[in-house]
Amino acid sequence: MEKQTFREIAGTYPTGVTVITGTNAEGRPVGMTANSFTTLSLSPLLVMFAIDKSASLFSDFMESPSFAVNILASQQEHLSRQFSKKNVDRFEGVAYKKSDMTGCPILEDVVSYFDCRIVDRHEAGDHVIVIGEVLDGARSDQTPLIFCQGRYL
Ligand SMILES: Cc1cc2nc3c(=O)[nH]c(=O)nc-3n(C[C@H](O)[C@H](O)[C@H](O)COP(=O)(O)O)c2cc1C
Repeated sequence: MEKQTFREIAGTYPTGVTVITGTNAEGRPVGMTANSFTTLSLSPLLVMFAIDKSASLFSDFMESPSFAVNILASQQEHLSRQFSKKNVDRFEGVAYKKSDMTGCPILEDVVSYFDCRIVDRHEAGDHVIVIGEVLDGARSDQTPLIFCQGRYL
């Protein structure tokens, strides 16, 4: 199959939108928009996301011991765009606090979040699957942002 056909078929599957955050080796907050997040296991509690080997934060998430999954609300499309921009300070003007368990950034007014310790990484083609054990999290009753066929719903 052609890559373009693959992309078009994959795009018909609606997903939520997350910002995966962490802290880099210099102690600075880092974050990346990702829709590859999914839950994985109930016993133990595991979640995962996949990161492109060419992503600017690739080495950060290969070295970091932890990550947080910030599930964006329907009015946070601007954060999805900001955290997928190249060569900018993605945290400029973004309110967040550090999580209690890992210190990963938790963005203000997200629908919900998971705070995770990285327990495994698996190479898969041009991506690496990063698996986290959930240590903490919280939820609200807000409506999540949805992404489908390249558009936000
Ligand atoms: C809706 C959406 C979902 C994305 N999902 C992922 C993902 O799951 N994994 C990934 O590595 N990149 C994903 N990206 C791209 C990253 O946000 C990427 O870091 C960014 O586009 C390019 O910046 P960089 O070259 O600085 O890494 C997604 C982007 C958008 C807009």
